[in-house]
Amino acid sequence: MNNAINWGLLSTARINRALIKPLRASKRTRLLGVASRSLTSAQAYAREWGIPKAYGSYEELLADPDIEVIYNPLPNHLHAEWTIKALYAGKHVLCEKPLALKIEEVDAIIAAAKETGNIATEAFMYRHHPQTIKVKELVVNGAIGRVQLIKGAFTFDLSREGDIRLVKEYGGGSLWDVGCYPISYARTILGEEPIEVFGWQVTGPGGCDESFYGQMRFRSGVHMQFDSGFRSSLRSYIEIVGTEAVLNIPDPFKPGLKNEIYLKRGGKQERIRIKGHELYLGEVEDLCDAIQSGITPRVTLADSRANIAAILSLAKSADIGKPVDLSDFV
Ligand SMILES: NC(=O)c1ccc[n+]([C@@H]2O[C@H](COP(=O)([O-])OP(=O)(O)OC[C@H]3O[C@@H](n4cnc5c(N)ncnc54)[C@H](OP(=O)(O)O)[C@@H]3O)[C@@H](O)[C@H]2O)c1
Repeated sequence: MNNAINWGLLSTARINRALIKPLRASKRTRLLGVASRSLTSAQAYAREWGIPKAYGSYEELLADPDIEVIYNPLPNHLHAEWTIKALYAGKHVLCEKPLALKIEEVDAIIAAAKETGNIATEAFMYRHHPQTIKVKELVVNGAIGRVQLIKGAFTFDLSREGDIRLVKEYGGGSLWDVGCYPISYARTILGEEPIEVFGWQVTGPGGCDESFYGQMRFRSGVHMQFDSGFRSSLRSYIEIVGTEAVLNIPDPFKPGLKNEIYLKRGGKQERIRIKGHELYLGEVEDLCDAIQSGITPRVTLADSRANIAAILSLAKSADIGKPVDLSDFV
């Protein structure tokens, strides 16, 4: 473990649990520290999860020269601020989605990464999974003909009181929280950006969208329709409609060790089995590759910028009740 890359957790966020297992499983990483706004909470968390170091502030974690990578799972409105601070503190960063809430923030992250030579990447874990890679390969190789339409959804019932996802000033709302996944999926599979979007939303008492219904039009003529929400039961799917066949992905965003997707051509359906890996291991290994071998991370900052531009345009469309073209963000 002498050459292992030392990671630190920025807060005691619930999602840390997903990262702790792969950080332990990978031979290339060591989970060295955890910071919290309170030392007592950091120490309790460190004890619970067997983490060697605990810090009573985020600044102390960033100041520790032994830490090389920061995992940033703060509420959405703090992603850009602490990613930039970490980059300037000499750390690489794996930042939770969404990387930022404004284009100017993404641009500041891009500038900080360039200036410091450190790496920042957005934690879209599904991007690294063999299922996503297989779906893209099938589409690119023409398994369904020319793509016409992509449909998708990510909804769940958010019943937890006081959740950060329902606080508008924290970057709450279903579009930012889960709508970002079908948007990202479509862009990834198509390898192009939307040129026009339209969105409707249903807002809750705190002003956040609790349901979002969106459409995107791509230059190539492909259309995309999705919904995201906190007030429906768990739904998660992607359907890719081609001129010759349809590809159904029942579990696109949280695939596991054994996965099945379905290729429907005419009246026949073919089941394609895909061997997976632990979902969150891919993003950890990908960042380690980038640090150790100089390989560009799979989720580039330009890619994150384009996803955020699409989200912002959809949110704007829902606010003004009109379609929005994306030329403002280019
Ligand atoms: N990729 C995925 O699968 C996935 C899944 C779930 C969530 N996420 C993302 O991960 C991030 C965290 O989500 P989560 O559900 O884990 O959140 P959470 O449990 O509420 O944790 C957020 C942490 O941020 C710290 N914090 C700092 N300022 C805060 C403030 N003003 N209010 C509340 N907390 C504050 C707190 O840690 P301390 O008290 O220790 O300082 C808190 O534990 C979000 O960006 C979310 O989009 C990703």
